Amino acid sequence: MLKKVQELVEKVNNYTPESEEDLNSFRIEYLGKKGVLNSLFSSFKEVPVEQKKGVGSSINNLKSLVQEKIEDYKDSFEDEDPVSEIDLSKPVSLDNLGSRHPISLVRNQIVGIFNRIGYTISEGPEIEDDWHNFSALNLPEEHPARDMQDTFFVQTNPDVLLRTHTSSVQVRYMEKKTPPIRTLSPGRVYRNEAISARAHCIFHQVEGLYIDENVSFSDLKQTLLYFAKEMFGEKTKIRLRPSYFPFTEPSAEVDIYLGINTDSDYRITKGTGWLEILGCGMVDPNVLKNCGVDPEKYSGYAFGMGVERIAMLKYGVKDLRLFFENDVRFLKQFDRSV
Ligand code: PHE
Repeated sequence: MLKKVQELVEKVNNYTPESEEDLNSFRIEYLGKKGVLNSLFSSFKEVPVEQKKGVGSSINNLKSLVQEKIEDYKDSFEDEDPVSEIDLSKPVSLDNLGSRHPISLVRNQIVGIFNRIGYTISEGPEIEDDWHNFSALNLPEEHPARDMQDTFFVQTNPDVLLRTHTSSVQVRYMEKKTPPIRTLSPGRVYRNEAISARAHCIFHQVEGLYIDENVSFSDLKQTLLYFAKEMFGEKTKIRLRPSYFPFTEPSAEVDIYLGINTDSDYRITKGTGWLEILGCGMVDPNVLKNCGVDPEKYSGYAFGMGVERIAMLKYGVKDLRLFFENDVRFLKQFDRSV
């Protein structure tokens, strides 16, 4: 018996636990209900009387040795507890947060600017019929101005198409509501154009419409000046050039003044310092009539702009295709807020 206990003492002395679980099973092996020490104690009664003293103290020795071992290693494992290694004062890493797409950022900004002067948002279908996209807007079938917007038709039905502008939403809006109308129609539009750095077959527009009694061209001009200053800065200048759209009369294109401070200013403004940002005009009385608005009583203006074009200007992006490639290296450069 004494020999057996001595062997165990040696075994315990040589034992080094590798982990907390390891130490735990060691504890159960020795100190558990059916453990080594309990079985030694229960066979103690068979030990001859003259040996009892020696064997008894050696079993007690073994027990303290086991307890000490557990005590020693318990502490060393606690120090390695992963929770205590966490630095709670470290700043949170935001690396995996997504960012808004630049087109959404610019769209939201445009919408915000017009919201502040009372415009509400209206939306409509991307798959349109001929009436809402063309005919109601003074573009009857066979009208040559339809060529200004190369169109994707859906299947073989020439009456169903992908909208070429969000003016179609304004037609729907006028059909449903009575003036005063002040609405903004943001959305995706489609044109059958060759894809290049400056054009794409899918892009985004924001179009605005204001109809009330006595709305004049000077209201339009003032509203667009307000927009340009909010969007591009207080010092921004605008100019209106006469233009043509079938749904507005008179019509104009609006340029903002960028100046010629860099090579790129020179290139994108073709040496003039001015860059076109939107089309606009007074809604043609025929269009009002087509949409159920009395042109004798009401007048109004409309304007439309391409979101990609404004985003290119604002962020200095030289190739419009980047907005559609969803390359995270490009997208993550933009503001996370808004
Ligand atoms: N709908 C025109 C376009 O897509 C833009 C526009 C809107 C022009 C309203 C004038 C008035 O090109």
